[in-house]
Parts: sequence; C-alpha cells; structure tokens
Amino acid sequence: MAQNPPVGGRTRRRPQARARCALSLLTAGVLAAAGVVALAGTAQAAGALGDAAAAKGRYFGAAVAANHLGEAAYASTLDAQFGSVTPENEMKWDAVESSRNSFSFSAADRIVSHAQSKGMKVRGHTLVWHSQLPGWVSPLAATDLRSAMNNHITQVMTHYKGKIHSWDVVNEAFQDGGSGARRSSPFQDKLGNGFIEEAFRTARTVDADAKLCYNDYNTDGQNAKSNAVYEMVKDFKQRGVPIDCVGFQSHFNSNSPVPSDFQANLQRFADLGVDVQITELDIEGSGSAQAANYTKVVNACLAVTRCTGITVWGVTDKYSWRSGGTPLLFDGDYNKKPAYDAVLAALGGSGGGGDDGGEGACTATYTRTSTWNGGYNGQVTVKAGGSGITGWAVPVTVASPQKVSAVWNGTPTTAGDVMTVRHSWNGTLAAGASTTFGFTVQTNGGTSAPVVGACTAS
Ligand code: XIL
Repeated sequence: MAQNPPVGGRTRRRPQARARCALSLLTAGVLAAAGVVALAGTAQAAGALGDAAAAKGRYFGAAVAANHLGEAAYASTLDAQFGSVTPENEMKWDAVESSRNSFSFSAADRIVSHAQSKGMKVRGHTLVWHSQLPGWVSPLAATDLRSAMNNHITQVMTHYKGKIHSWDVVNEAFQDGGSGARRSSPFQDKLGNGFIEEAFRTARTVDADAKLCYNDYNTDGQNAKSNAVYEMVKDFKQRGVPIDCVGFQSHFNSNSPVPSDFQANLQRFADLGVDVQITELDIEGSGSAQAANYTKVVNACLAVTRCTGITVWGVTDKYSWRSGGTPLLFDGDYNKKPAYDAVLAALGGSGGGGDDGGEGACTATYTRTSTWNGGYNGQVTVKAGGSGITGWAVPVTVASPQKVSAVWNGTPTTAGDVMTVRHSWNGTLAAGASTTFGFTVQTNGGTSAPVVGACTAS
C-alpha cells in the first residue's frame, strides 16, 4: 500500500457511498499516519514466524503435505507459526496430471483452502520439472511435448488463478558441477534451450498477477551453476521474457554448507531486477550450530531488499524429506528447536522459546463479504482462545496495485505493505468470544486475495 489507510469506526457502506467520503477518508488517513508513530515498537509482539517476517515486509512459510493436515499438532503448529505454504508434492505434474489432460487437484486444493481459511499465502510448486513427471510425458515427440507442456501450465495456473503469490514455473533446469550446462530432460532434449522461455511466456498469459520464478538448488552461492542461471535471467530481463523472481532452494548440510557469499549471490540476482526467495530451506544438524546457520540465512534475506520471503521445507523433522538430518525448526514432537528461536530472533520477534505471550491466544479468520466492479469488502473475525484477552492485532497484506480505502472496528497502522489492524473499542474478549473488523479494498486491476496473518493477543 502506498499510503496509510484511513481509520474509521463506521459501519460498512455501499461502494457508491465511498466516493463522496473521499475527503474525510483522506483526513482520517493523516490521523492514522500519526498513530503509526505512537504505536511504533509495540507491534508484532507474538512469537509467530509469519508475523515477525511480515513486520519486515516478508513472508515466512513452510512446505506442507495434505495428508498431515488432519494431525492436530501439525495443523496447529502450521497455523500458529507460518504465513505462507508450499504444497510439498501435491502440485507437481505427476500429482495433478497423471494421465494426459485429466487433472486432479483435490490434494492441492485441500492445502490451498486450509491456507486461505487461515489467511496464509500460497507458493505454487512446480509447473515444469524433469522429476515427478508422469510416464506419459517423456515419450512424446517435440510438437506434442510442447503442447502438453503449455497445456499443463495453462490448466494448472488457471485452476489456481488469483490464489498463488509466486509460481515456480521451471524447476532445476541446470546441471550440477562446473559446466554451467542445461540438465538433460525431456523438455531440454526435445525442445532445446527455448523451453524455459516458452514456459515463462505461457505462464504470463495465464496469470498476469502471480510472480513467475525460476527455482533451483546448488545455486545459493556463486558458482558455475548459479552463474549460468544468472546469465539466463539477465538475458530474459534484457529481452523482456517475463520473469519476476528466482528461488534458491537452500538445502544445506555438511557437504553443502551455507555459502559465505550467500547474501552477495542473492544481491547480484536482485540487482538484475528480480525478486529473490528462499524456497526450500532446511539445514541438517542440531543445537546451536544449526541455529547459527539458520541465523545466517535469515540475515542474508533481510539484508537484501528484494528478498521477499523464506520457506522452510517442512513443519517438523518427523516428516522432513531428510528427516535423518533433523533439518527443520520443530522436532518430531513439535517442540521449538534452538533453530526456531534463532530464526525468530533474527526476524526481530520475541525470542526465548518459551511461552511468548499472545501465541495461540487468538485467531483471525478472513472472509470476503461483498464484491463490486473495482473493489470488495473483507471481514476478519478475531476470536479469543482458551483465555480472555484485552487487546489484539492482525497483519493484513494487500498487494499493489490494490489499496485499502477504509477500515472499521479496528485501528490500522502500516509498515511497508503490511497493514496491522489493532482493536479500537473491541479489544476485550472473554475466552472463546469473537469480534470482527472490516476493510474496503480498491482493486485497481489487481486480483490477488489479501493475506491475513496470525492474530496476536495482548
Ligand atoms: C521433494 C519432497 O520433499 C519429497 O517428499 C519428494 O519425495 C521428492 O521431492 N527440490 C524440489 C522439491 O524442488 O520439490 C523436492 O521435494 C526437494 C528438492
């Protein structure tokens, strides 16, 4: 949001009425701006990683598997901590199009609807990749393969249009080692180097709002492989091929440690005019050594303005794809590890690992209550948990070019593009009781849903 949204204790109005109130809204906006100063420093007291990252203008997410969402501890850890999810396997080609032109989205849809009901963002992973590719794809001849690839991108992106903040359009297209060459795959071998460009061009025609990323591993430091990706991105930017972001998987262990030039590498990509994202972070190890490595990664992202978010590749060590290496922030019993405390501290949240106050004390649930040409009203229900609360705060991110033009039953302040709405008259809630606040968004052509983060109680 470019400006602070105005404050109002008003009830919801029909959109036509809003234009008439433009002047008074503007005045209220100035008052709200003054409120930012008064409240600075008191925001984001919660332990939730997503909130702490949002206060820095970034998301903090986790890879999620649909079949674990029914496990209470898994879901409650996810919901309490993370602001974005990536389906770990459910959006891959073999999962959504196991036979040609027959699409099944049910597992991925479960993750997306869970995320939406909790106000989390969703990363799309992944459209074109040599792995987890169903058997029918690789025997296709070039012309057929081209149309299958474009159809796959089109159908999947259309299904999730407006729900995905960033898509990994192409994953892992370069070889490891010193060659800087493309990896052999059905796409590379039959369509040649141009397949990546074609995939991005197709993706842009389907969803003009999702950020389109190239994603890879062993590209986290400066080396032959990342140099090759760098040259490709540079060429794409020069020729106007639509690419918005580069994902750095960041799977680290003793053979592949956090590179000392990680930040410099992120920065050189950002300097090409793309966002950078840490997309699949996990770091094998334990205790303070693991924690220190996580700190390095978070600090690197925070030091690069265009590093827009971090995703860890799983919620708990128990279900990690590398569970033997215990690479995540929560152990198998969902206890916070030293790595968790380190990440939270690096993000500027409250550390300590113990009970940090508001966590779990309230929840925020978003619904869109009305829509019209050019705008909509959203409503967030704030509900106290097992104990009463005396105040609450909820971060709401509305992506440009959309703008918040009114807020009611809550007091907004802004930090970057995140509007944090605090209680006004309605801060005191008994255990289990709820209240709502609402806001009006002018879409200005944008289609993405607002992202409502975790509630913080005081
Ligand atoms: C992994 C999943 O975590 C596993 O469950 C699955 O068996 C294999 O794929 N790079 C990627 C991810 O882009 O999609 C991979 O995820 C890990 C490496």
